[in-house]
Amino acid sequence: MDENDVCKTGINELDKILGGGIPHGSAVLLAGSSGSGKTILGSEFLFRGMNKNKEKGVYICLTEPKSRMIKNLRNFSFYDQKVVDNGDVYFLDMEVAEKLREMLLLNPSTRVRTIVDVVKDRGAKRVVIDSVTAICNSLDDKAEIRDFIFRLGMELSPLNCTSLLISEIPPREYVFSVFGVEEFISDGIIHLSDFERKGNIIRTLQIVKMRGIEHSMNKQVMQITKDGVKLMPLLDKNIPG
Ligand SMILES: Nc1ncnc2c1ncn2[C@@H]1O[C@H](COP(=O)(O)OP(=O)(O)OP(=O)(O)O)[C@@H](O)[C@H]1O
Ligand SMILES: [Mg+2]
Repeated sequence: MDENDVCKTGINELDKILGGGIPHGSAVLLAGSSGSGKTILGSEFLFRGMNKNKEKGVYICLTEPKSRMIKNLRNFSFYDQKVVDNGDVYFLDMEVAEKLREMLLLNPSTRVRTIVDVVKDRGAKRVVIDSVTAICNSLDDKAEIRDFIFRLGMELSPLNCTSLLISEIPPREYVFSVFGVEEFISDGIIHLSDFERKGNIIRTLQIVKMRGIEHSMNKQVMQITKDGVKLMPLLDKNIPG
């Protein structure tokens, strides 16, 4: 795929195993259990997108207050207060968006419209929804969840807006979603997991699916450092401890 057809995540090793980046306009499930690094990876995707590619981003934060999230993100070198202040990386949460909460509790098409309107208003090329599980929790059945994710993908794709849909899954199970339908509708799946080695927890990242590109399926060791997410092939010499 041509370099211009992909959205470079800006996380170097991730782009490398993706073979360049995520095809523009894809809706990608970012699945991981609690503490697996979903929020940090999603935020880094937006900050790197702005700083390296001048692509604006929107973070829809439904699982923790924006103020607390930003306080944690300040520890990372990719965090850029300037782009938060000018809205190029725009954090939207329930503290500031009571209206959005009401809208998100309505039917699937209204939920999609609400998110797409924010993306259009900001001129964003990247959006992170943290989490899609929280939105799906209040939908009635699998058909509605399928409809919601499908419509979201259909509306964001023509805007060339690439989305990371954060999926909260139980630890150490090879599943990608709570409701069991999200992964089929999404264009890609990035799976964060971990295993124990000599009493150490080793984080891992694996691209399970990415429609339209040839990507690595190899599990990577993932480290969270002050410079963000680092990946290394899962070889003995790369396993810390
Ligand atoms: N500055 C840092 N340096 C290294 N690791 C960190 C740093 N800050 C947080 N972490 C690690 O990242 C983890 C949290 O990552 P993150 O908030 O992205 O997880 P999450 O998958 O979004 O979790 P949740 O599902 O609970 O929202 C912490 O538990 C900690 O292990
Ligand atoms: Mg989180």
